[in-house]
Amino acid sequence: MKKEGTFEEMKKRISELEKELAMRRRVEEDLRFSEKRFSSFMDRLPAAVFIKDTESRYVYVNRFYEDVLGVKGVIGKTADQIFPESLSRSMLLDDRKVLSGELRIREEKIEDAEGKERVFETHKFLMGGQKGLPLIGGIALDITERKKAEERLRASEERFRSIVENSHDGIVIIDGNFCLEYANDEICKMMGYGPEELVGTDFRKFLDEESLGYTVERYLKRQRDEEVPPRYEINFVRKNGEEIRVEASISIVSTEMGERRTIAQLLDITERKKAAEEKKKLEAQLRQAQKMEAVGTLAGGVAHDFNNVLQAILGYTQMLLLDRTEDDPVHAKLKRIENSAHRASELTQQLLTFSRKVESELRPLDLNSEVRQVQELLEKTIPKMIDIEMYLQEDLWIVNADPMQMEQVMMNLGVNARDAMPEGGKLVFETENVVLDRQYCAAHLGAKPGKFVLLSISDTGIGMDKDALDHIFEPFYTTKEVGKGTGLGLAMVYGIVKNHDGYIMCYSEPNKGTTFKIYLPVVESQSAKEKVIVEERELRGGGERILLVDDEELLRKMGKEILERFGYRVFTVRDGESAVEAYREREGEIDLVILDLVMPGMGGKRCLEELLCLNHSLKIVIASGYSVNGSTRDVVDAGAKGFIRKPYELTQMLGTVREALDSLPDTGKGENR
Ligand SMILES: Nc1ncnc2c1ncn2[C@@H]1O[C@H](COP(=O)(O)OP(=O)(O)OP(=O)(O)O)[C@@H](O)[C@H]1O
Ligand SMILES: [Mg+2]
Repeated sequence: MKKEGTFEEMKKRISELEKELAMRRRVEEDLRFSEKRFSSFMDRLPAAVFIKDTESRYVYVNRFYEDVLGVKGVIGKTADQIFPESLSRSMLLDDRKVLSGELRIREEKIEDAEGKERVFETHKFLMGGQKGLPLIGGIALDITERKKAEERLRASEERFRSIVENSHDGIVIIDGNFCLEYANDEICKMMGYGPEELVGTDFRKFLDEESLGYTVERYLKRQRDEEVPPRYEINFVRKNGEEIRVEASISIVSTEMGERRTIAQLLDITERKKAAEEKKKLEAQLRQAQKMEAVGTLAGGVAHDFNNVLQAILGYTQMLLLDRTEDDPVHAKLKRIENSAHRASELTQQLLTFSRKVESELRPLDLNSEVRQVQELLEKTIPKMIDIEMYLQEDLWIVNADPMQMEQVMMNLGVNARDAMPEGGKLVFETENVVLDRQYCAAHLGAKPGKFVLLSISDTGIGMDKDALDHIFEPFYTTKEVGKGTGLGLAMVYGIVKNHDGYIMCYSEPNKGTTFKIYLPVVESQSAKEKVIVEERELRGGGERILLVDDEELLRKMGKEILERFGYRVFTVRDGESAVEAYREREGEIDLVILDLVMPGMGGKRCLEELLCLNHSLKIVIASGYSVNGSTRDVVDAGAKGFIRKPYELTQMLGTVREALDSLPDTGKGENR
């Protein structure tokens, strides 16, 4: 029984053992399979996998680890036996940290088998090992390409950022709620705000009233994807309140989140706009100047020929008049022809002044004293309900001007002002020293930089509109009734000012008033004022005896007074005959003769000749109301020592007298006579 039992038991035991064996084989097989699967999996992993023990000795590395890093036989070694110190030190340090429970991710740069540097993102973690000791597991992912791509992206972003930040255009990004999200340096400079004041602020705050409406409308349309012009101009208000004109180029972009962003590129065109406007103004001024030049040439030509025709009409009329007595019925008609011809001659004279065919006799002049004289004249002719006010600068620079013509200019402007103020008002004369700089001259055609005396004449009258202003200097432009104005007043003023190398401008507003500004160049080598004073001293006489010949009593008296005050002794006679006689009587006592040209009797010219016969070296000065360059020239050339303009004008008269007296006696000319 026992045996039987034993055999049975044995059989059972054997089959149990066989089962167990088979199971173990199966388990072993499974294990082998699992290990094979594990390492084949590990070896195919595109990452370096390693396992270390607590002493940081490698227990396992996969094929990638060995192949890619080019290390073999690492099992049992530590990092410092495989890698350079710089790298291994941090590897070992990291291992310590992993063991102390900190999970580590680190980027490591490791040279691969081919010597190329690769970047790994290494994850380390603790895992269970044998005998209760942990192991350090690690996976190093090769992120070289990702890093490169990131670097490229970063560089490209950097590049774009630097383009935007350093752009000479202002650049802003605006979000979907009118808010500035970004503002570059340039726009901050442009607006005078710091970036912190711009970013986060509603852009509408910076627009002026005019631009606000359409800018917001376009912004909203753009948000709705509607068509809007991409480029337009807007006005911004700077922090200091100044307005600037800006050209905006707008584009719209969508973010990854699908939000819309407005990108505005802004260029400050304030200066450019100003320059363009200035240019337009200058072109208008040029057109105006060319027009005036053309009209001047035309008018001058017509007036010149017309004057000759008038001279003939006048001449023959006067000849006919000689043959008629006043009771002759034709006499009155001829007189009328003569008067009309005179009037026509006046007109042509005015036209000639406009077209600068009349010479200006320029000399150093204190404009203030001319203004005062005109004031006296105007006060007599202008109605009392017009107040004349004067604001004359002290120490006004001396200008180079013709006093008669200046008087004419002021009278014409004064009379116009009177006509513009039928109900009364204010007429203001102002003088001022001004220096025109390049900037001013760049904006005003014909103006030259330098020192000027500015004469302004303003009224508080009816004023003019822009259209009228464009024409006022043209000859025959008048808004006055027939018979009240010929439209030559301002044309003459224009011609005279141009002849003085000056320039004139008119500002006017309907119902407010009008101001004419005249700039006259100052005499070169300033301190001319001093020159005048010095001259005055040099003008004094030293008891020289002068014979003054003039048929007009008033002028005789005045001339005598002036000359005596300046240290001369003066005898006066009223005509040529008495002059010759007086000279004969007092020969040797007379140092100089001042001789009027137009006198009844023998007249100046013959008187000159006779006096020179008596003493060929006698110093004679001619005085005349005509220009020295006209018919007077040959008389002066016939042996006179100088020419004095009439009406007598102090410095000119004294200067000429002094010069003639100081000149050497002219012998050669007289002996040949
Ligand atoms: N101070 C002013 N205020 C308003 N309008 C003026 C003034 N000065 C001139 N004008 C306008 O300019 C026009 C031309 O002036 P201008 O002196 O050349 O001619 P006029 O006064 O009409 O005639 P004239 O001067 O030949 O007698 C005037 O008719 C007037 O319309
Ligand atoms: Mg006038």
